[in-house]
Amino acid sequence: MSKASYSVADFGVTKYGEKARKFTLNGAGGVVMEVSDYGGKIVKIFTPDRDGKMKDVVVGFDSPAGWDNGDPYWGCIIGRYGNRIAKGEFTLNGVKYKLPALNNAPGGIGCNLHGGARGWDAYVWGAEPFVKGDDVGVVFTHVSPDGDEGFPGKVEVKVVYTLTAANVWRVEYEATTDKETPINMTQHVYFNFKGEAGGTIEDHELMIAASQVTPTDAGQIPTGEIVKVDGGAFDFRSGMRIGEKINEPDEQLEIGKGYDHNWVLDEGVMAGGKGGLVKAGSLKCPLNGRMLEVWTTEPCLQVYTANWASYDQKAKGGEHLSFRCGIALETQHAPDSPNKPQWPTTFVKPGEVYKTMTEFRFGIY
Ligand code: BGC
Repeated sequence: MSKASYSVADFGVTKYGEKARKFTLNGAGGVVMEVSDYGGKIVKIFTPDRDGKMKDVVVGFDSPAGWDNGDPYWGCIIGRYGNRIAKGEFTLNGVKYKLPALNNAPGGIGCNLHGGARGWDAYVWGAEPFVKGDDVGVVFTHVSPDGDEGFPGKVEVKVVYTLTAANVWRVEYEATTDKETPINMTQHVYFNFKGEAGGTIEDHELMIAASQVTPTDAGQIPTGEIVKVDGGAFDFRSGMRIGEKINEPDEQLEIGKGYDHNWVLDEGVMAGGKGGLVKAGSLKCPLNGRMLEVWTTEPCLQVYTANWASYDQKAKGGEHLSFRCGIALETQHAPDSPNKPQWPTTFVKPGEVYKTMTEFRFGIY
């Protein structure tokens, strides 16, 4: 008999009136995940510390209501286009498309963020839980109609979460379209290895396998430059405590109110690397020895240290969430790629299959 198992429970009704379910995935390696078919949201992930003590290490909520605001997209699948598209505009095959431009940083010109007013995170997806050998997971499916949030093409999308016996949470994305359209999906889970109400993640150690970053304008749109991180606040190549330089006087850190930037992975295709499944980075908590590695087929990693809102929201344990209470490690193509033809394309044509994979490999050190 497999050492992995799952159970299914009701998760309440979303603000759109859709009934959601929650799947508990008991991994054969000990990690336990609770995930919902409501936008693939991550409700809980229990991982062991160096003494074997289990703790829930993600920001999430006990019911769909916790996610009613959408932003900041705690633990959701993001689509059709993760991250920003300047002014919510792009031109494809001579046609100019206009998307909702609801996101705007002070001094910015507005942008489309994470799919628009109702992105893919805000739908209840089809969901089929499975056990295959020692793997346990859920296959999520969704159909986004032609014109959804202003995007062209009907997209059929599948996201598979698999939890393995080696405590790897694998996320596989697959999508096809009937008209050319930009697709850039990611998972927006926020980790805090001290627990979601455990205060700031500034004491966590972050490694990012990237020598370059894409700086932004005041509205957080990449300027188009790709700059070296050499020794500065963005140089996480040998690992650095997140709080070490986060409050340094630096124009980019001021724009993001901390880290909210896109790193170009050295081994990814955008940096001229070979691509394939490459190590994007790692996150470690010296206090308890919890860690994870991120591996991905994507060329970039957006790191967001939960800097924007005051997060006046209660966590699952009833305690308040706080500034920098989590870190999102979002594997993706570079922001605003539809307007940056010199960068790896996010446009997917009919007949092509959009296919990417990211792994979060949990462990201790
Ligand atoms: C973006 C942030 C944004 C956050 C929540 C992140 O992916 O980079 O700028 O505030 O998502 O929407």
